[in-house]
Amino acid sequence: MNNIFRNQSWLDDLAERDFAIIDNCLEAEDFLSLKKFFHQKQSSQKFHKAGIGTKNQHQYKTEIRGDFTYWLNQDSDVELSFIFEFLDQLKDILNYNFYLSLASYEFHLAHYPAGSFYKKHLDQFDQRNNRMITFLLYMNEDYQTQDAGQLKIYLNNGETTLVEPIANRAVIFKSAELYHEVLPTNKGRNSLTGWFLYNRNQLINL
Ligand code: OGA
Ligand code: MN
Repeated sequence: MNNIFRNQSWLDDLAERDFAIIDNCLEAEDFLSLKKFFHQKQSSQKFHKAGIGTKNQHQYKTEIRGDFTYWLNQDSDVELSFIFEFLDQLKDILNYNFYLSLASYEFHLAHYPAGSFYKKHLDQFDQRNNRMITFLLYMNEDYQTQDAGQLKIYLNNGETTLVEPIANRAVIFKSAELYHEVLPTNKGRNSLTGWFLYNRNQLINL
């Protein structure tokens, strides 16, 4: 069983501080399969320059973010069925514990080349505000502090905290609550990143 389901103490952190860190999130075998999938997509050039704004309506602003992304597709990325099962299960746990109405999710793989960053932002957009919970899973083996690229979280009490993007570490936070940024990375930096959605897609006509 994945560690995030075996030990659910992160639910208290999420309730109390709006964010939680879960180390060794996935089972080793699943984590390995995910990394393999990442590298396959990367070597077949399936990553695209990330924009800002919603998935369909975005602008490219390298001075704001410099990562490259590959959006996961449940229908075509059949090798990742274990990840979609994992995300479905996580969605159910969040709904049950926080009385949420999360109905779906959108996830991408992200690669930050050396020198890139993502400036301070909130994971919600003017045009659409149905991103409720952000989930990140880092894939950087042998991460060293000098590699930088930490996730800086701006807590609501005025403090900040730095999270190192080490392999198989997950970060989960309330999308509308916490400003955050990716500090410039000195090394290629990989993650699975996405959002659990309060399903208002049908109501807002983009
Ligand atoms: C994002 C983001 C943080 C990270 O993609 O919106 O804030 O640590 N990512 O990769
Ligand atoms: Mn973000």
